[in-house]
Amino acid sequence: MEKWTGDRLRKAYLDFFASKGHSVIPSASLIPENDPTVLFTTAGMHPLVPYLLGAKHPAGTRLTDVQKCIRTADIDEVGDPSHCTFFEMLGNWSLGDYFKQDAIAYSWEFLTQVLKLDPDKLAVSVFAGDEDCPRDEESAARWEQMGLPRNRIFFLPKENNWWGPAGGVTGPCGPDTEMFIIRKKPCGPDCSPACSCGAYLEIWNDVFMQYNRTPDGRFEPLAQKNVDTGMGLDRTICVLQGVDSVYDTELYRGAIEKVEELSGKKYGESDDVTRAIRIVCDHVRAAVFMLGDEKGVTPSNVDQGYVLRRLIRRAVRFARTLGIDDSVLGDLATIFIDLYAHVYPELEANRDKITGELAQEAARFTRTLQQGLKEFEKLVGWIERSGGEKVINGKTAFRLYDTFGYPLELTIEMAQERGFTVDTEGYHAAFAEHQAKSQAGSEQRFKGGLAESTDVTARLHTATHLLNAALRTLVDPSIEQRGSNITPERLRFDFNLNRKVTPEELKAIEDWVNEAIAADVEITCEEMTVDEAKAQGAVGIFTSKYGDRVKVYTMGRYSKEICGGPHAARTGELGAFHIQKEQASSAGVRRIRATVDGPKE
Ligand code: SER
Repeated sequence: MEKWTGDRLRKAYLDFFASKGHSVIPSASLIPENDPTVLFTTAGMHPLVPYLLGAKHPAGTRLTDVQKCIRTADIDEVGDPSHCTFFEMLGNWSLGDYFKQDAIAYSWEFLTQVLKLDPDKLAVSVFAGDEDCPRDEESAARWEQMGLPRNRIFFLPKENNWWGPAGGVTGPCGPDTEMFIIRKKPCGPDCSPACSCGAYLEIWNDVFMQYNRTPDGRFEPLAQKNVDTGMGLDRTICVLQGVDSVYDTELYRGAIEKVEELSGKKYGESDDVTRAIRIVCDHVRAAVFMLGDEKGVTPSNVDQGYVLRRLIRRAVRFARTLGIDDSVLGDLATIFIDLYAHVYPELEANRDKITGELAQEAARFTRTLQQGLKEFEKLVGWIERSGGEKVINGKTAFRLYDTFGYPLELTIEMAQERGFTVDTEGYHAAFAEHQAKSQAGSEQRFKGGLAESTDVTARLHTATHLLNAALRTLVDPSIEQRGSNITPERLRFDFNLNRKVTPEELKAIEDWVNEAIAADVEITCEEMTVDEAKAQGAVGIFTSKYGDRVKVYTMGRYSKEICGGPHAARTGELGAFHIQKEQASSAGVRRIRATVDGPKE
């Protein structure tokens, strides 16, 4: 029989759900649109949130796709047998169409009839129930009907069997039923899919999305009951090929062989070598997809760019532990682009950008490491000369990590070579203090979720429309939105343009927007078809994610744009508009940050 590969699994999944009346939709970008609660698309449901909340999807109520995803929460587990930073999620959705009965029957049929997995090797978990939502006896009964014995149906609490909201704060969520492959004998009588012994490997998750979590923490029933499922592509082919880890399929083989060839080390020769090779390959694959995305990012010190930077740097570090230099990143990138370009043509289109940015960032990091080494030598020399205790204190160790990218292990190693010790406790304390600070920062950003629709975000969103219109009117009529992000403090707008916006233009844009605000025109909303909207000259990104009928917001003669909201009722509700900064975002894309004062009393 033909071997299971990533290509075959993608096709089998989409074909199966198409045969069950699902429309096949394309993968959305890795960079979420208008959602400040997360940096990356972390699940297939993410781009579908408006439709899970009730908006009509143009492709119908049954959808299926393969979505590019990035998860960095599990970064420390990357390199183990089942975690990857970038992965593809196969998914099928019911938007107020079928619910538990059909979802479970489809999952069972796909697993046992299409993938032909041994039913005796399957186990599932269902939600045990709590004050927010009852015990899921219906799903358990359905699994039993399918042929699963009760002793392989586990009732687990929210911690295990609840999914969402995606950003952790507000949005659609609900109880789920997860499907596992039994990889080895359970470790004891209490072993379950919640156990960390590795007996159960999760491959698929059917979420019954029937609640919306509100900003005050309530679970309010959604107008429609949805199904959101997600199956990890790498994990599933790992199971189908009967290999030990997600790194042992054809999706990683070429990259791993390249690292072996360059380093002279053998994958599998020791746990450390295996883990390091996996991390290098995983991080480069993730970086390739971030750089090559249709809304691709470049390394920087904020947001997505920062995550990308950390991944590239971590890849360089682990490459160094294998005795190879940073040029390996470019070699691996080429391998991944060649491997995936037929599925994700954006990688081919951005080939030069991907390899160029990777090489630049890796070289930059190598210089930083060298600077860190100088810093270290200076410090050690100074302590030696002053005859002080031979200890690198915690704050210094943390600074070497934070500023120069030196992981603690490296600092300890270098210290040992010079007869020094490192105050690791102090390092961890400094680290925790830093984390508490950045945590506070990320809580702030969660508060800005558009789901909240506060007056402040509505005003900033309204200003974004005016800014877009001003750019098209004053700078270039072919300008289009490439991204938008709003927090309670500011708006950020990305758009296509191959040059800097001049200071004179920025001033004119500010004046134009402030004039629209001073005119205090009413903001009206009309529903119409996409074609009607185009005919009226509305701007907007006309992709399939808009419903058949779209909402068009008009602000007098100033702006007409397709959008989901939220908006102010009149432009006069906005205070003065100020542009704070204009800068490059990525090749051919500029970024403007701006603020809007509160309303005039
Ligand atoms: N959202 C769910 C998950 O990520 C199912 O797609 O597992």
